[in-house]
Amino acid sequence: GKVRAPTHIISTISDDRGEEPCYGGVPMSSIVEQGLCVGDVISLLWFKRSLPRYCTRFIEICVLLCADHGPCVSGAHNSIVTARAGKDLVSCLVSGLLTIGPRFGGAVDDAARYFKDAYDRGLTPYEFVESMKKKGIRVPGIGHRIKRGDNRDKRVEILQLYARDNFPSVKYMEYAVQVETYTLSKANNLVLNVDGAIGTLFLDLLAGSGMFTKPEIDEIVEIGYLNGLFVLARSIGLIGHTFDQKRLKQPLYRHPWEDVLYTK
Ligand code: ACO
Ligand code: LMR
Repeated sequence: GKVRAPTHIISTISDDRGEEPCYGGVPMSSIVEQGLCVGDVISLLWFKRSLPRYCTRFIEICVLLCADHGPCVSGAHNSIVTARAGKDLVSCLVSGLLTIGPRFGGAVDDAARYFKDAYDRGLTPYEFVESMKKKGIRVPGIGHRIKRGDNRDKRVEILQLYARDNFPSVKYMEYAVQVETYTLSKANNLVLNVDGAIGTLFLDLLAGSGMFTKPEIDEIVEIGYLNGLFVLARSIGLIGHTFDQKRLKQPLYRHPWEDVLYTK
């Protein structure tokens, strides 16, 4: 009989063997003919299903809003310095991407994990925040270097407004708003940030769309898909900053001595 040689790779998201490549079983021509967009492609390749339009539009809004946040933030700064050192596009991009993590842009998954756990366990905002404090963990998704209670992050407002108008349920978002009310009563910089907004709203998307089983939601949160949204989005801006520096023919960057406290 025939012996099937064991494969070295298992893959389930796309297939390029036929006449045309398919994303999640959908041929590319059909993606184009149906007028699908990047949110649809993300849902096919990451979540392996076609999500309703209100979900794919939400994914796209996340990408639009996180594409850039000026030259001064960690990621852009690294890309700018790298571009000015004469490095190639990929080096500039990854040097910016490498700053994405628990403090900057990469708190989306942890925000989803901690807020989900707290909400599902029925913790009040007070109990949640104070239990994190006892453990010595900053609440992921809370706090910002420049945003304040009286100078909120417009991106958070836009995402929440969209979800209120389009999502069947926004229970995790409402919980995040209550948590923010409590943290703001402690300090004016402890706003719900864009990572926290995306993390909690994505929980609402996953739970409210009826497209995911509970184990699937747990797996998405556990594996950590959601930082991918920020990584993907911010790549657009980091590439932009790289081209900008090269176009402007900026010289090698050297930080000014006056801005360093030399001490023993
Ligand atoms: N939870 C609880 N307390 C906090 C938090 C938080 N998330 N953030 C700040 N604080 C409190 C703490 O008491 C902190 O003191 P500590 O250093 O002893 O812990 C105090 O505020 C002072 O904080 P700062 O150092 O002034 O805050 P900073 O402006 O440096 O930090 C940051 C901003 C890094 C975003 C911070 O709030 C944080 O770590 N948040 C959680 C991670 C997160 O959500 N990052 C994503 C930010 S949005 C983005 O990058 C696109
Ligand atoms: C960003 O999106 O890069 C910002 O929220 C981070 C910052 O420091 O402003």
